[in-house]
Amino acid sequence: MENTAKNVFRQAVKINKKDRQEKKGNKSFVIWFTGLSGSGKTSLANEVEYLLYNRNLSTYLLDGDNIRLGLNRDLGFLPKDRKENIRRIAEVSKLFVDAGIICITAFISPYLSEREFARSILESQEFIEVYVKCPIEVCETRDPKGLYKKARSGEIIEFTGISAPYEEPGNPEITIESHKVSIVDAAYQIVAYLIENKLIH
Ligand code: ADX
Repeated sequence: MENTAKNVFRQAVKINKKDRQEKKGNKSFVIWFTGLSGSGKTSLANEVEYLLYNRNLSTYLLDGDNIRLGLNRDLGFLPKDRKENIRRIAEVSKLFVDAGIICITAFISPYLSEREFARSILESQEFIEVYVKCPIEVCETRDPKGLYKKARSGEIIEFTGISAPYEEPGNPEITIESHKVSIVDAAYQIVAYLIENKLIH
């Protein structure tokens, strides 16, 4: 998005990201969950946060539905709104990383370009994309919020996977096939990845 603010200059700060990370005793980065509605992003993100929190790491979870009730309550589900939703979340995640906090995000984030934007504003190793892969038929059977039913009947338009696109990640750091593995096992798999890659210990 074009910068409409003129005559604005980045201000230097005394305390930087590294200082904050050292004080907290952890590296900070984003674990970015993407996938269809009902794929299990929220459940998995919660479980991962629980495991990290219990390892004494500083975490914060940004979840689509919750953020859409507050910060992004002015946005709907048209492509331009979803893009703005994800742009804001990318920027907010970056602030959390700067604050020394492990930021976990759970948004459908259906567009490759917006997920790549999020990656691009962070340093390498700071963006861990987790594709929560689940066939739409399974998501639709789960239908935890009854939204697929409404989408099929036409009550909800522009519903991801039915009447709006979902662009699969090309090269995510981690893929979880949520119909084949339990949420707890998947969360441990993500923690193992973080340990292997020396993001946490
Ligand atoms: S995103 O596409 O902009 O990334 P986001 O993750 O914030 O979506 O919000 C998705 C959640 O909003 C879904 O889990 C669902 O509960 C709800 N929702 C309401 N309308 C729609 C819709 N048209 N498409 C997808 N999700 C919707």
